[in-house]
Order: sequence, then structure tokens, then C-alpha cells
Amino acid sequence: MQPASPDTVPYGVIVTYSALFVWIGTFISGVCSRPGNGGKGYIPFIVLGLFIALFLNVRYLFEGIPAGLRFFNGMYDVIVNLGENYTKGELPPNVVRCDNGQDCSVWGENHFPIHSAWAVAMYRRFQPGSDPTRSIMFYIHIISNSIAFFLVHYQILYPGGLKKNKWHALLGKICFLCATAGALSALWISSEHDAVPEYGGFVAEVGFWLMCVCMWVPAAVGILKMRNADMAGHRAWMVRFAGGLWGTFWGTRIPALVLDPFFRSYPIGTNFCISVWISGPMGLIGGEIALNRMNKIMKSKEN
Ligand code: HEM
Repeated sequence: MQPASPDTVPYGVIVTYSALFVWIGTFISGVCSRPGNGGKGYIPFIVLGLFIALFLNVRYLFEGIPAGLRFFNGMYDVIVNLGENYTKGELPPNVVRCDNGQDCSVWGENHFPIHSAWAVAMYRRFQPGSDPTRSIMFYIHIISNSIAFFLVHYQILYPGGLKKNKWHALLGKICFLCATAGALSALWISSEHDAVPEYGGFVAEVGFWLMCVCMWVPAAVGILKMRNADMAGHRAWMVRFAGGLWGTFWGTRIPALVLDPFFRSYPIGTNFCISVWISGPMGLIGGEIALNRMNKIMKSKEN
């Protein structure tokens, strides 16, 4: 791994932060818009959220897992160092230094000396020489869940319905297979978490099972509804599935980003566990809100 020079400023992190600020703007504009009034509603928020996720996730394919995680840690470093310089004394339980210099982050030695403990643990778990099955499962997880995340939106935008859209059925099968592979690989990876105190150990492990349930079960119910020719039910459960995917992706990363500086001194893994446990349920609530809004828009178009 090429160490960063002391002054390295990772422009990718700055660009991603800029995109996140624009994204917050699109969310506020979505909140302010009323369903069915001809405005764009949450569409810019959804599109930008998908593209930022794609930008963050494809890095792993081009750069490999350790470099992808260094970038990921670099995003958290900006926030977790806020208000503290930690030049002397012991570090609180939820922040650490890299094992070697500043190698666990894309920032150079002269910036952001401490890092979230869970982020460094994640980096450590995927170092060269670690269990190759773990890395394979990680790739399966990232690729298949990213495909499912994108496809589910395409499927909702272009439903099958009466036109007997052949692509819809095929893409639906691919999407469900990807979600299943994404959840199974996540179960495999998280089965190791009882040995990772920085994540919160077994509490985090069970939290990841909950994430799998919140993401995968709505997809499975959606498939069953379609088999029973209940198209309204199929659509509703697939919107909930999309909510589950949003929750399990963004609903872990954003709370962790916000909570990390406040939870530095809490028992180890507290912030990470909160993010993991709230993500799936938050996604399902978001899916339900989206479904209500979509139904309102449909009704207002019918009248
Ligand atoms: C069923 C829900 C999910 C579960 C249980 C889950 C589980 C996990 C776990 C356990 C890790 C950390 C690996 C470790 O150190 O052990 C992880 C990381 C990751 N997951 Fe997931 N995940 C879920 C949903 C998703 C979705 C929907 C996506 C993509 C859209 C995704 C993409 C990633 C990525 C890219 C990482 C690496 C960290 C990052 O760059 O964000 N995951 N996931």
C-alpha cells in the first residue's frame, strides 16, 4: 500500500462532501414539495443518492478493498476529529490511530490523526494476508447489493403490469437473486463480528441479521404477491424493499457519520451498533412514506 505523503489532500473526499451537501439540498427541496403539484419532489434526491452510492462502491472494483476502505475512512476522519486534536493522553474507546502511521486513511500525516475505531477495524480485517474468503464475500456483497439497489428503482419506474414487459420479469429475477446473494454474503461476513469489539461484537452481529431481514423479507413477500397475481401488493412490497436497501446502505453510513464525534467516549462499538440497529427499520419507515406519497400522486393524476 502506497503511504500518503504528509500533506496529501484527497480531492475525492472533498468532491464527495460537496456532493453530500448538494444532496442535502435536494432532500430539503423534496420535503418542501407537495405530492402531485408538478414539481420534481424527491426524484433529484433519489437519483443523486444512487449516484453517490455508485461512486463510493465502484471504487472497490478499481482500487481493491484496502484502498476503498482508506477512502471510506477518509470520509469519517473529517467528522470524527471535529473539536479535538488528541495530541496527548489516552484516546477514548471509540477512536484510535492507524496501526502504521496514517496508512488506514487517504489523508496525509499532517491531517486528522485519529479515526473511528470501527472504521480502522474494518480496514484491518481486509488487509493483504487476511482470510481470502472474507474478501470474496465482501466483493459479492458490494457488487450484488449495488446492482439490486439500482435495479429496484428501474423496476419501480418501469413496472411490468398489463403490457407484459418481458424485461421487467427478467430484471426482477436478477434483482431478487442479487439481493439474496447480498444478504447471504453479509450474513457470512457478519458471522465473524462477535470477535470484533470495535463493531460492538455480538450486538453488532445481531444488528446485521436485522438488516438482512429488513432488506430481504420485503423482496421475498413482493415475489410471493406477484406469484399470487396481486400486482398492487407486489408494487407495495417492492417499494418497501427499495426502502430496505436505502436504509441498509445510507441508513448505516449517515447516522455513523453524525454520531461518531458524540460517542467517542461511550463503551466501545456503541455508535456503530446504533447505526446498524436503526438502519433497517428506518429504511422500512422511509419505504412506507414513499409508498403513501406515490399513491397520493397516482390518485391526484387520476382525478
Ligand atoms: C442486508 C443488508 C446489509 C447488510 C447486513 C450489510 C452488511 C455489511 C457489513 C457487515 C459490512 C462490513 C464488512 C465487515 O467489516 O465485516 C458491509 C460493508 C459494506 N456494504 Fe453492506 N450490508 C447491507 C446492505 C448493503 C447495501 C444495500 C449495499 C449497497 C448498495 C452495501 C454495500 C456495502 C459496502 C460498499 C460496504 C463497504 C463499506 C463502504 O464502503 O460503505 N451494503 N456491509
